Amino acid sequence: MLRRLAASGRALLAAPAAAAAQPIVAARGVRAVAAATSGKPVLPSQVHPLPDQLFRSIELEYRGHDPAVLKSYTQFLEQVCTNLSVTRGSVATLPYVRWVQPLLRSKFVHKKYKLHYETRTHITRFTIHDVTGSTASTFLEYIERNIPEGVAMRVEYEELLPLPDTITASAYWK
Ligand SMILES: *[C@@H]1O[C@H](CO)[C@@H](O)[C@H](O)[C@H]1NC(C)=O
Repeated sequence: MLRRLAASGRALLAAPAAAAAQPIVAARGVRAVAAATSGKPVLPSQVHPLPDQLFRSIELEYRGHDPAVLKSYTQFLEQVCTNLSVTRGSVATLPYVRWVQPLLRSKFVHKKYKLHYETRTHITRFTIHDVTGSTASTFLEYIERNIPEGVAMRVEYEELLPLPDTITASAYWK
């Protein structure tokens, strides 16, 4: 969800930055059309005429039922970071989430005998540092296209922004 927001953010940014960064605008044309038609909320960076977004860090959290698959995907992410020269942050394996459902073994007799159904959701957190908006979208596009079956991902951004006008315009700031 957050990723989608950021994608539309870049698109809307393209309009104010048109004079300064012509090639970037052209590259983002497709997304601009898509974003303009969807009624998405507006990120703070969208109201600032910056040439591109700056992310201090992007946190990827992916979860699935098979720890081996997550491990392999982590290796893939590390290789992508190396190949695309993206600064890698920490990799953390979080405690898995356990879900247990005890049920009768037979339909209604032998109430002493139960079956435990259990699922475990394994979670890994991977961080990258100091990327621009265009690097972030390329990186995320690539890794999301290659995400394994049954693995879900959540992306969290930490974005750098100029101070708001209410502060920079005040007498104390000058
Ligand atoms: C990284 O680059 C190497 C060499 O070009 C390539 O073999 C490998 O598939 C790349 N890995 C990823 C994850 O893109």
